[in-house]
Amino acid sequence: MVVVVATTEQEAAAVRARLGDRPSQVVTVGAVRRLVLVPVSDEGEAERLASTLRSEGLAAVTRPDDGPRLDQWMRYTRPLTFGERLSLCFAWSEHDRTDLPGLIELGPGGFGNGDHPSTRLLVEELVTRIQGGERVLDVGCGSGVLGLSALELGAAQLVAIDIDRSAVEATRRNAALNGMDHRVEATVAPLEQIEGPFDVVVANIGRAAIVELAPELVRCLSPDGWMAVSGISPSLGSLVAGFLRPLVEVERRTSGEWAALVLQRGGVHQ
Ligand SMILES: C[S@@+](CC[C@H](N)C(=O)[O-])C[C@H]1O[C@@H](n2cnc3c(N)ncnc32)[C@H](O)[C@@H]1O
Repeated sequence: MVVVVATTEQEAAAVRARLGDRPSQVVTVGAVRRLVLVPVSDEGEAERLASTLRSEGLAAVTRPDDGPRLDQWMRYTRPLTFGERLSLCFAWSEHDRTDLPGLIELGPGGFGNGDHPSTRLLVEELVTRIQGGERVLDVGCGSGVLGLSALELGAAQLVAIDIDRSAVEATRRNAALNGMDHRVEATVAPLEQIEGPFDVVVANIGRAAIVELAPELVRCLSPDGWMAVSGISPSLGSLVAGFLRPLVEVERRTSGEWAALVLQRGGVHQ
């Protein structure tokens, strides 16, 4: 196995020093991103080392060292590009991202790296709809992928909430990883405690949670804002939209068994 630690040019030497006598190699994969690669022959020992490094705040993972499992890993860690304005990449990916547009890197923890259809559908909406300067609410932020993408696309501020504390912590770490921490408030506070209004509300939380939170989601949206919800079966799209009245559905995207809805207040169309 190989332990991969995502770090920066400035911090790579300190990471290597932390590893003591273990042989390691530093590779450059982007303008600021450096990876420290540490071969560890025993799989259990590699997992323990990566876990210890993560507990110390480092973005560390294990990967296979050769064969089909490495090929699979390389496919899994390939950056995702959305048009000419946004790319998403794991911080520890060994693919070069020097020339990728609008790069957001994601470290460990929290659901969402952009490849799940329910996430991808909302990222596509953000790419199409963010105009610049918006205040964004990301409900069920997971890794923070949606909110951080919105910021990269030009939104001004993000409030990100999740019921899972580890997701909130992952969002904070990812905000810092991308130099966006001063524009992000991530919290486990329930939606009813969040002060609106927001120009954009995104929620990839599935049908049941959308229905449960519907009145609060609607309350948080500014009069001329837009909301996008995801994690819904296409056959239940209209039912979910009904719970979000007086908002009206203005767009629906589907991918296989997943649908995302965009809604606005009646009479507001982009
Ligand atoms: C499918 S993940 C989406 C993560 C990320 N936003 C994305 O699009 O990839 C759903 C997230 O919503 C959170 N969640 C579920 N119910 C919630 C609720 N009622 N309020 C806030 N967060 C919730 C979960 O903890 C999880 O992190």
